[in-house]
Amino acid sequence: MRIAVCPGSFDPVTCGHVDIIERSALLFDKIIVIVLQNKSKHCTFSTAERVDFLKRSLKHLKNVEVDSYDGLLVDYANEIGACAIIKGLRAVTDFEYEFQMALTNRTLNQNIETLFMNTSAENMYLSSSLVRELASFDKPIDRFVPEEIAVDVAKRLTVKEK
Ligand code: PNS
Repeated sequence: MRIAVCPGSFDPVTCGHVDIIERSALLFDKIIVIVLQNKSKHCTFSTAERVDFLKRSLKHLKNVEVDSYDGLLVDYANEIGACAIIKGLRAVTDFEYEFQMALTNRTLNQNIETLFMNTSAENMYLSSSLVRELASFDKPIDRFVPEEIAVDVAKRLTVKEK
């Protein structure tokens, strides 16, 4: 069975993330979407909330599971027997950071390949931080996050961020 991991902080999951995961699910037997710590970011949503939003957004994908992990991505990938890490790329601005992580992960474990999947054109500008900012100004976010979670994400951000 060929397993790939789709890692990220997903704070919160956006339609851009879901698009990358849906397309990845067509290429692998199983995809594990893994919520990890990004030490350079302070997340707005708790790990449990981010996992819950992902599960609700991805329930239509039968070969996709959601998990969270506190350690290194390559250690998790190794533990579950994954052969690939899939990262979405939007513009060239993502590239340097993603390339650095891919090379570091390859140094740590040469058996796990990082694959970059380009974003769909309509999601090029989309990011979790943009969603959080719009919601904190009471602007609609339903075009940017999956419909299953739009109301809860908006409610949570407008209450907490004021
Ligand atoms: O969505 P993000 O914040 O760009 O995702 C970055 C993430 C969480 C995938 C990255 O920070 C990560 O892999 N964190 C886990 C710890 C780890 O493995 N660090 C080494 C990366 S080279």
